[in-house]
Amino acid sequence: MRAEMLKLRPYQPGHFETLYEIDHACYEPAIAYSRHDLNSYIHAPGADCLVAEADGEIAGFIVSEQAGTFGYIVTIDVLEAHRRLGVGTMLLNESERKLAANGVREVTLETATDNASTVAFWEKHGYRTRSLKKGYYPGGRDAFDMIKSLVVNS
Ligand SMILES: CC(C)(COP(=O)(O)OP(=O)(O)OC[C@H]1O[C@@H](n2cnc3c(N)ncnc32)[C@H](O)[C@@H]1OP(=O)(O)O)[C@@H](O)C(=O)NCCC(=O)NCCS
Repeated sequence: MRAEMLKLRPYQPGHFETLYEIDHACYEPAIAYSRHDLNSYIHAPGADCLVAEADGEIAGFIVSEQAGTFGYIVTIDVLEAHRRLGVGTMLLNESERKLAANGVREVTLETATDNASTVAFWEKHGYRTRSLKKGYYPGGRDAFDMIKSLVVNS
């Protein structure tokens, strides 16, 4: 297996254009965010964005939101060339760690029902399907509404 030197960094404004390009590489045009929407999600109250570097280049990112004890994964994007190497896991683990440290007890997200690899990623990380959201995405694709309880270390 190819090994990469992975590092996480907090989001900085200089990352924005690269994250926008990664989002468009990861999602079809109907689903990928506009610059305005991506910027709004990154800077929303309670939002946190982490950037993953592989061998010094940005390979992916995650955006989460917190409202009280509730967390939400807005998006997680890893460039295809860097997948199955643990980048997504590293981003999600650190995001969940920070959410839990800030008092979050439950994390939710939506994911497309017809993307088996992504559903497998969430299930591997302990998310379970709570409900089906018919026609959730622009273009009409359905989403699973998924949830995970975060363990409290007292
Ligand atoms: C989902 C995504 C973030 C995963 O990133 P990644 O860096 O490849 O994930 P990891 O390498 O940490 O994978 C961890 C585990 O998830 C599961 N998994 C990930 N990709 C998978 C695939 N293509 N097929 C089956 N299982 C998969 C596996 O269990 C994997 O563990 P393993 O490699 O030891 O078998 C990435 O595929 C992606 O960016 N997809 C496009 C954007 C997207 O759909 N994001 C989710 C929006 S809700």
